[in-house]
Amino acid sequence: MTTPSREAVIILDFGSQYSQLIARRVRELEVYCELVHYDVSADDLAHLNVRGFILSGGPASVYADGAPHLPEFILNSGQPILGICYGMQLLAYHLGGKVDPSDKQEYGSAEIIPNEQSNLLVDSPQQVWMSHGDHVAQLPNGFEPFAHSTNSPYAVIGHVDRKIYGIQFHPEVTHTPNGKTILHNFLYRICDCSGGWTTGNFIEESITQIREQVGEGQVICGLSGGVDSSVVAALLHRAIGNQLTCIFVNNGLMRKNEPEQVAQTFRTEMAANLIATDATEEFLSALAGVTDPERKRKIIGEKFIRIFEAEARNLGQVDFLAQGTLYPDVIESAVAGKQGAATTIKTHHNVGGLPDDMQFGLIEPLRYLFKDEVRAVGEALGLPHRMVWRHPFPGPGLAVRILGEITWERLETLRDADAIFMEELWNSDWYHQTSQAFAVLLPVKTVGVMGDGRTYADVIALRAVTTDDFMTADWAKLPTDLLALTSNRIVNEVAKVNRVVYDVSSKPPATIEWE
Ligand code: XMP
Repeated sequence: MTTPSREAVIILDFGSQYSQLIARRVRELEVYCELVHYDVSADDLAHLNVRGFILSGGPASVYADGAPHLPEFILNSGQPILGICYGMQLLAYHLGGKVDPSDKQEYGSAEIIPNEQSNLLVDSPQQVWMSHGDHVAQLPNGFEPFAHSTNSPYAVIGHVDRKIYGIQFHPEVTHTPNGKTILHNFLYRICDCSGGWTTGNFIEESITQIREQVGEGQVICGLSGGVDSSVVAALLHRAIGNQLTCIFVNNGLMRKNEPEQVAQTFRTEMAANLIATDATEEFLSALAGVTDPERKRKIIGEKFIRIFEAEARNLGQVDFLAQGTLYPDVIESAVAGKQGAATTIKTHHNVGGLPDDMQFGLIEPLRYLFKDEVRAVGEALGLPHRMVWRHPFPGPGLAVRILGEITWERLETLRDADAIFMEELWNSDWYHQTSQAFAVLLPVKTVGVMGDGRTYADVIALRAVTTDDFMTADWAKLPTDLLALTSNRIVNEVAKVNRVVYDVSSKPPATIEWE
């Protein structure tokens, strides 16, 4: 979803681990940007009002075989360019300078000292974060060195008239304290951006676009209780009111009070059309006796699609399916060469798609947003704070947190224990300091003692992690007082539990979920 005249800065991704971070920083500075593969074509960008380019870092060496290079149209565009690290080396290479390969990495904090005033830099010496091997050894014609470091005469270079700049360090990471100012200067002083990429503007623009796209059509949106689908539904409802029908399939594997919360928010407070199907019995009977995690996922995925499809068919005419695809999903599928989404229910539910005869137009209003932007939109649309800030919750729900057989009784045990853990995390202000936290019900019983008698009861494991990307994670160092309070409450308030343990494993080698 794009507006033809939308001001944008384009970030070319040369493979740096920080590329997405550059995009987030630019958005935080209220300039819309897109992160694109380095061999983008001018046509791909024709729908945007491009104000400048940022070239990311990358692991390659400009002289290496197969090294990624700059598309010609970028240097010919006359637009401002900022090359970061490998991006700077590319500029030097393409504009007639010289890059020296180096076996030695410069990695870590360094100090840069400005040589003279420039539009890009703050004036005083400053700490920056370096991470590079090769370096620029000779400047292209017309370029000046604006700052040096102990290791390099060319820490910041630029051609003022052509508005082309290169910096050897990473302004996007927090280890470069003035990095945001440098990006701000590039965007506003050099690219002359007008800014205004704010939550309020996004909502207004999206509403106009959704109305245009949908016309008189009918839209369905699957709700999961999670942040993304909730924000999509709230935005759609704001835009098209009763032309939207939300479908919520309660699989019985949700956390405590979640189905009620979905109905309260969407049906009662928002007055949206909501079909809430309680399919608990159906899911639980299909899962009876199943202990293999992959089998559980498969059963849940297939049931979900079948029920969702039946509800959608009941509605009669449906023209569009709205879903909460986010920008990182888009980047990922573009990188994997899978651009052009088919009508599939978000992989969230880990299954294929709807039958072939159910082809809807897709509405993906969050397609260009990062998660933190989605949360800001959710808050602005008046969704409940705890829904907006909810940790990720897997599609198969509590099925991946009950090891062994899933029964209603065991689900209730887990729900109660998990609710206590969540309550204590919120009360202690630790919910926001963890990326994901939950309780797990183990498939073993252990001996305990309560009053005068021995017990033989369930074990709950508590898991809390911190992570940026969920690919790797560290276990959260929760205060012992908080763990003690949570453990006490669980064994006292949840009848079938006599023992609580805390998971102190990182990912890898463990995973976040226990399954
Ligand atoms: P793991 O356990 O692989 O989890 O470290 C990484 C992240 O993925 C979530 N997760 C899932 N999400 N369907 C989902 O939608 C699933 O089947 C699933 N399994 C794991 C997990 O909660 C964590 O955030």
